[in-house]
Amino acid sequence: MQKELLIENAFIEKKMGHSNLLLKNVFIRSAAYEGMLDDGLPNQDLVDHHVAMARGELALTTVSYGAVSANGRTFNTQMYINDRSLEKLKVLADEVHKAGGKVSMQLTHCGYFSKNKDSRRPLAPSRIFNAYGSISGIMFSKAMTLADMEEVAYDFSVAALRLKEIGFDAVEIHMGHGYLLSQFLSPRTNKRKDTYGGSIENRSRFPLEVVRAVTEKVGKEFPVLVKLNLEDGFKRGFSLEDCKYVSKALEKNGCSAIVLSGGFTSISPFYLMRGKVPLLGMIKNGSSLAEKITMALFGPFIIKRYKFEPNFFLDQAKEIRKVVKMPLAYLGGVDSREGIEEILNAGFDFIAMARALIHDPDFLIKLKANSIDKTECNRCNKCVVEMDRGGVKCVIV
Ligand SMILES: Cc1cc2nc3c(=O)[nH]c(=O)nc-3n(C[C@H](O)[C@H](O)[C@H](O)COP(=O)(O)O)c2cc1C
Repeated sequence: MQKELLIENAFIEKKMGHSNLLLKNVFIRSAAYEGMLDDGLPNQDLVDHHVAMARGELALTTVSYGAVSANGRTFNTQMYINDRSLEKLKVLADEVHKAGGKVSMQLTHCGYFSKNKDSRRPLAPSRIFNAYGSISGIMFSKAMTLADMEEVAYDFSVAALRLKEIGFDAVEIHMGHGYLLSQFLSPRTNKRKDTYGGSIENRSRFPLEVVRAVTEKVGKEFPVLVKLNLEDGFKRGFSLEDCKYVSKALEKNGCSAIVLSGGFTSISPFYLMRGKVPLLGMIKNGSSLAEKITMALFGPFIIKRYKFEPNFFLDQAKEIRKVVKMPLAYLGGVDSREGIEEILNAGFDFIAMARALIHDPDFLIKLKANSIDKTECNRCNKCVVEMDRGGVKCVIV
């Protein structure tokens, strides 16, 4: 019988698949929007935040939401990959390295989820009503042409290459949570009648083209992770069967590791986090009076609450573990030594976390030293509100 793996087994060096990335352990800080930007440029708080992750024994920390182009931003105050942001990001990468960690960038295009006033006709697989940006007057998306797709794939590849050149150790392509590539994958938002819509083979065609464009540009040794939904979290959305298909295709198409998640920001945002819905803070954060009122009136009905359970995606993630051999990162509700050991014993290669580390960047150090067994994060999810108020932080510490 196979020996039970203990947490000590997580603190050993691990190579990421076929890439040349050697990590000091299996722990990844998953992308969680930091909101630490000045005029769309990374600020010192962002550097300090990721340095704290590296000091906290995280092998790989992920900077969130690096839009691949100006129109790939959800808000026009967000960062996108350009000369000015890269200058600051180089400092961040250097500082993380000095602190003994490695750093990755989540590369994103928001698709139709746009409140970005610079982009009046946001791109999407099909023409879609933009509930997310409608209050800002951005009502409908434009169905992407083949030329639009080629341009976006190119933007992803150039952004990845430029990050590699300034010293980033990896990139993560965001294919989940309802952003552009996830909009292609989801039958709810992809209504195309051409070879990019319909079957899962067709819906995944463009996301896979993006992966290939990136891997061709950065080379086989450079790690390219993909964040992928297990399920969208609503009927007739991207399903677990779809996820099995896409995972197998990613395995064949040069992806180094899949970070498994779920949910769709505009429809099922708390499916990916679980726990309380911080409605009051969300109302206060509304960018206009209309948005605040809409949120106050309809928030309780439109934002569904999902009960938090430790390792809440584990059963679905195990189904993916059965169909691919490539590295998989488990994410979702990791909150204790016991939970970590359960994931290791289920055969996952990496373990990603967000809230336990927002609550305490030294969570791993304390677990390793046996001074705690569990995080004290209570999933109030007020950190979600804080990211729009000067930077993500835990309000209970
Ligand atoms: C404040 C906050 C911001 C987040 N922002 C992002 C993001 O920008 N990109 C992303 O892929 N996931 C984002 N997430 C989701 C997390 O990466 C993760 O999937 C989720 O929190 C579940 O993991 P956990 O239980 O370890 O927190 C965010 C989560 C939180 C709490």
